Amino acid sequence: MSASPEICAQVESLRAELSRHDYAYYVLAAPTVPDAEYDRLFRQLQQLEADWPELVRPDSPTQRVSGQAAPELASVDHVVPMLSIRTETDTTAAGAETFDARVRRALGLEETDPPVEYAAELKFDGLAINLRYENGVLVQAATRGDGATGEDVTSNVRTMRCIPLRLLTDAPPPVLEVRGEIYMRRDDFERLNAAQEARGQKQFVNPRNAAAGSLRQLDSAITAQRPLSFFAYGLGEVQGWALPDTHGGILDGLRALGFPVCEHRAVLAGAAALAEFHARIATLRATLPFDIDGVVYKVNRLALQQALGFVSREPRWAVAHKYPAQEVATRLLGIDVQVGRTGALTPVARLEPVFVGGVTVTNATLHNQGEIDRKDVRVGDWVIVRRAGDVIPEVVGAIPERREGELPRFDLMAAYPVCPECGSHVVRGEDEAVARCTGGLICPAQCKQAILHFAARRAMGIDGLGEQIVNQLVENAIVKTPADLYNPALVNDDTLAGLERMGRKSAENLLKAIETSRTTTLARFIFALGIRNVGETTAKDLARHFGGLDALLKADEEALLQVPDVGPVVARSIVDFLAEAHNQTVIAELRAVLHWSESAPVAMDAPGLLAGKTLVLTGTLPTLRRDEAQALIEAAGGKVSGSVSKKTHFLVAGSDAGSKLEKAQQLGVTVLDEAALLAMLKPAPPQAEPLAGDMQGNLFED
Ligand code: IVH
Repeated sequence: MSASPEICAQVESLRAELSRHDYAYYVLAAPTVPDAEYDRLFRQLQQLEADWPELVRPDSPTQRVSGQAAPELASVDHVVPMLSIRTETDTTAAGAETFDARVRRALGLEETDPPVEYAAELKFDGLAINLRYENGVLVQAATRGDGATGEDVTSNVRTMRCIPLRLLTDAPPPVLEVRGEIYMRRDDFERLNAAQEARGQKQFVNPRNAAAGSLRQLDSAITAQRPLSFFAYGLGEVQGWALPDTHGGILDGLRALGFPVCEHRAVLAGAAALAEFHARIATLRATLPFDIDGVVYKVNRLALQQALGFVSREPRWAVAHKYPAQEVATRLLGIDVQVGRTGALTPVARLEPVFVGGVTVTNATLHNQGEIDRKDVRVGDWVIVRRAGDVIPEVVGAIPERREGELPRFDLMAAYPVCPECGSHVVRGEDEAVARCTGGLICPAQCKQAILHFAARRAMGIDGLGEQIVNQLVENAIVKTPADLYNPALVNDDTLAGLERMGRKSAENLLKAIETSRTTTLARFIFALGIRNVGETTAKDLARHFGGLDALLKADEEALLQVPDVGPVVARSIVDFLAEAHNQTVIAELRAVLHWSESAPVAMDAPGLLAGKTLVLTGTLPTLRRDEAQALIEAAGGKVSGSVSKKTHFLVAGSDAGSKLEKAQQLGVTVLDEAALLAMLKPAPPQAEPLAGDMQGNLFED
């Protein structure tokens, strides 16, 4: 039975309504419905599409995330090259005059001729993107690359709700390429980094890098979680769209078609007005919700742009006019230290408050003693502070000419012989840049960080155990070690409900999450311990190599060096960690309350039962979570990929397997269920006995 005309009309009207709400939210910045109402309409459309799959269209708002990871980003040749803009080196007002004079000269204008009209806009600090619409539908999104060839990021860009999947017009042009900048707002960036930290994942240095990293993901499901924004600023190839006469007209046209266009723009006549714009934006820069690195002036009339043409790969009709670096001088009032998870003491400059790059800075990092010496920074000095990448403030150096009299050098070990948080001794190894507190878990600063790391998504994955809660648990002396989390006498309904910002319901959820985390993998457990220099990959290698915890605990440096990719530094960190009695105690307590499956150690030169094999997981497995299955496969030396291809050796399929299963069947890839996977992972029985069942024997033949 096919969908009735009423159903078709309802589906269309829901799509149109959702697009209108997206437009109101992202382009007009004037939301028309509360989130809950939007979600309701969205779910309604999802349900109708589930009931009538033939009505699903790729440009439906429900189809933004495809769920297929790509093995790599394909390259795309730009039909119209993506050029760069010349940068005016003079950052003062005079820079605008130089540009205007150059334009007038190139156009052959006399002094008595009227001023040239310019479109002035912001220079966004993100990444250029080309969005290709054919007959109104987004068919491709590509990065700038080298200008001639970029990378195909279509499935990632499709996840961005601020970019229309379909142009808002009933008469779409056959081809319209829209160009603009993908960026991340500062508040979104801060939130993303906080979340990354809580999950024990990498921090981004600035919004630009975060935007670039998010856009170039192979798995668009990750991009979908990242808060990316977009501003349109120009065109690529155009067929069948009546071009307006001016650049300003193009931006108005793009806005009407559904694209966010920055409102900080103006059409101005003459150099003086450009310089005024530059100055006005300089004062506004700090209050903008996103980073810019200057302003851009473009000759407004397209006919004049054409007359001016290009020099090498830059248009003669546009220039970027930047701002000077954001550096200011202030007084260094003192040097404090911050204690990190592994006890590292980071010196932090306490500064006389100073306004730089849009915020008042009172602290800035000094990195370590070596940096303080190299920069010869002393308490009482005037120092130069920079907001690096517009985000993290740092002390660039001292201004020795402004030093009044003799000031003592700062010696971290002398200033902090004991940890300011717990009073334990501070030590610094001979070749080490970093001084460390020896307090381990008795140091509240280290304890908080250790528990946060332990709970992080990629470690034990305890949802809901964030910084606020951990701080309170440690400060109220409810929890002293990660093992305490599993002690019902310490962490229970009553103790949790007594914390700030913790209702009964969240307490219940947190207890459930703690309970769920009891079943884990050896690799996660090793990573969760937070041993210095032991990241997720090393933890997986260790788990695979030793197979069980006892073998790891017994390993000396020499044994550790046998593990692939473990060098002397990592081996030393592990031995040092295990030599601490309090770490041994916590490990013993934890292993009594956690469960993971262990396997026989993988012999030094045996590459693992699945070495060289690529597996893909799909559907819901009866007992293993996706990440657990992945860990088991990786522990056996196999690789888990997100998509099925000719190179896939096995597809492990659970219930509700979809397109991956179909593809595997088409390609003749062997399909396993969970039981077959587990059977394969059983280590070979000792010595000469034959492998159980003939399936295992066959499966390893290529
Ligand atoms: S116009 C032919 N306008 O700056 C001119 N670019 O060096 C093409 N950018 O990679 C670019 N804000 O990512 C233009 N308002 C703006 C811009 C802008 C930032 C970036 C863009 C490009 C680079 C050009």
